[in-house]
Amino acid sequence: SYIVVVDREGQEHRLDALNGWRIMEIIRDHELPIKGECGGCCSCATCHVYVDDDWRARLPQREDEEDEMLDEAFGVEDNSRLSCQILFSEDLEGLRVYLAPEGA
Ligand code: FES
Repeated sequence: SYIVVVDREGQEHRLDALNGWRIMEIIRDHELPIKGECGGCCSCATCHVYVDDDWRARLPQREDEEDEMLDEAFGVEDNSRLSCQILFSEDLEGLRVYLAPEGA
């Protein structure tokens, strides 16, 4: 299984993904520049990504906690998500996300 991550220079990376892993962990374990400072407990917003339009509707909705954290993030768009709040499963085979700019 895999996901596709586009880094801040526009370079695409195809990353191996395992069921049940957080998207943030998959990105971090492949040594792409994502901080994930809080370790995935939805309290830092340094795992911010933009989800490709084709995928937005296929992801589970944001929980309130994620919404609140995104309120404080930098460069938030309609397709913003915290990647630690998305667990990989086979339904997400080929998921495409873009790393968001690092916060100011
Ligand atoms: Fe901190 Fe996602 S890793 S909110």
